Amino acid sequence: MTAMPDAPSAHDILKLNDLGGYTVPTRGLYPFQWNWDAAITALGWMAAGDEARAWREVERLLEGQWDNGMVPHIIFHGDAETYFPGPEVWGVQRSPSTSAISQPPVLASVMKILFEEGHDRALASEKLAATLPAVINYHLWFYRERDPENTGRVCSYHPWESGMDNSPQWDGPLAGVPPVDAEYVRRDTGLVDPSERPHKYEYDRYIYLVQFFQQNDHDGEVLYRDCPYRVEDISLISILHRGTRDLVALCEADAAGLGLASTHGEALYSLKQSQALTEQGIQALWSEELGCFLSHDARADVLLEHVTTAGMLPLFAGLPNAIQAERMGTLVADWLAEAPYGLASTHPQSTRFEPKRYWRGPSWLHINWMLAIGFEDHGLIQEAAQIKQASKDCIAVAGYYEYFNSVTGEGCGGRDFSWTAAMDLYWLNPLESFTASKAPQSEVETS
Ligand code: DGY
Repeated sequence: MTAMPDAPSAHDILKLNDLGGYTVPTRGLYPFQWNWDAAITALGWMAAGDEARAWREVERLLEGQWDNGMVPHIIFHGDAETYFPGPEVWGVQRSPSTSAISQPPVLASVMKILFEEGHDRALASEKLAATLPAVINYHLWFYRERDPENTGRVCSYHPWESGMDNSPQWDGPLAGVPPVDAEYVRRDTGLVDPSERPHKYEYDRYIYLVQFFQQNDHDGEVLYRDCPYRVEDISLISILHRGTRDLVALCEADAAGLGLASTHGEALYSLKQSQALTEQGIQALWSEELGCFLSHDARADVLLEHVTTAGMLPLFAGLPNAIQAERMGTLVADWLAEAPYGLASTHPQSTRFEPKRYWRGPSWLHINWMLAIGFEDHGLIQEAAQIKQASKDCIAVAGYYEYFNSVTGEGCGGRDFSWTAAMDLYWLNPLESFTASKAPQSEVETS
């Protein structure tokens, strides 16, 4: 529901960005399929009434899965001149070519929703059975490769892996990464106002890391030992944990009658052990002083003391205790008072807050969606409602931008953006035809 009378509708935007079974986040700036964008966008396709297309988005994402289980953060399905770093920079020899890192795995939680809320039950069962084993392998990969010491806290090797590229959380760890020793030409700053994008300082280090992965043959053991950037990333940990919970629930409830719990018994046992580790390990990331969770620079052994929306995502995973959840709830009013088009990705009272620079202060609606679920799950209904209303206000002011200036509501980054359109269709302003046709819950209870 956009304020602009001649603007394309949310469904139009998905169609505009559809390149044949996969949806680009936006034309030009992001011309391939991105991992967490694809998952969120699948919700939009379902809510627009095209359940088959929603599952197709998932299938096309899984075409990029590596033999070791990783689902990369970009799948280079086609060619494009408008993005840097493209496949030649990542140097991954497979077809389709991909990047060499992952992204927050919200996919499993989305698949649970597609399965539970899909009206076409036969399609939902068939597609779940076909895709679930790959997603189980994806989660096993995360725990195996990114938490080999069983801390309960998986780590990331690149700020892009968090999806929150330029968050102040990464300033400290990124300072330990050398700049790349080569010339390169960015494309993003030719397409979007540079004041809404990361600086050259960060890009020099982003590209250093991409080369580092390649020079080390993407060898998991070497990367864990030697990567100059290794961060226990609170958003990744939380989204993975929620996804694992959803995967286990899907298998155990076996609503599709597919015998998933017995077929994947060993994998489920391992996933449950990882869940238990995270339930314990997360407490090391709680800040009593700041009243939220933090990421941890595992190389320097330093907690990254920034109040960000990432630090509240444990709510989405059901990880905080009741006192911690309440504490986080008390932050929301102040947060919104200073930046009403929230929830600002960095708290507006932070000295590093920049309301329109990538992940340093703007608002993202898919994060708001996860936060609203998290607050609601913990009984903090008012906070959830405030975040939902702020999200609606962003779209009302600016339409379907990638993200929003959290002080003014102005649209930032890419326009006609798939995940914002999807969040409007699925969460903020669902069509009556979608809500009315949701499958009755009694048929599909899975948790
Ligand atoms: C970019 O290029 O800005 C992306 O966020 C990397 O995934």
